[in-house]
Amino acid sequence: MLTARFLLAVMHLLALAIGIAAVYARGRALRRTTTAADLPDVFHADNWYGIAALIWVGSGLWRAFGGVEKGSDHYLESHWFIGKMGLFLLVLALELLPMITLIRWRMAFKKYNAIPLEKAPLLARLTFAQLPLLLLMVLMAAAMARGF
Ligand code: HEM
Repeated sequence: MLTARFLLAVMHLLALAIGIAAVYARGRALRRTTTAADLPDVFHADNWYGIAALIWVGSGLWRAFGGVEKGSDHYLESHWFIGKMGLFLLVLALELLPMITLIRWRMAFKKYNAIPLEKAPLLARLTFAQLPLLLLMVLMAAAMARGF
């Protein structure tokens, strides 16, 4: 049956598929970036990562606090949920510099301005560093969903 609960669960898992693929693609594109001609690939992967993040957070918060799953109290008392949110904050912290830099690069790219591409390897490392944290979040999510 197509309930909101079911649809939100589907969206949350779709975000996982899109997000993991996008973060890997952005990391690889950044690692290969040597000229401005390489940037469209980076921006393309970054667009998908942004879409995944919106779906992740939107569906996740709705599931946790919108009364469609086990209720806010259940999650706020779950160590796995707190751990998962802690990891999410770490991912956000790692994403801060790539996010700000890529917004600047997009604006410069549109205006045909020079772009300091020597930052690309650092952004690639910061992107790849998010992958194990996201995978750990999956582990915590599975434990949290089963009330461990
Ligand atoms: C603000 C961000 C997020 C919130 C509030 C959130 C919240 C939730 C909630 C409430 C559930 C339902 C658990 C249940 O069935 O009782 C869930 C499931 C899940 N979440 Fe998230 N989530 C967030 C981000 C993420 C991210 C970034 C990932 C992956 C890296 C993720 C992976 C999963 C997975 C795999 C499940 C399914 C677990 C299972 O049924 O085995 N979530 N999440």
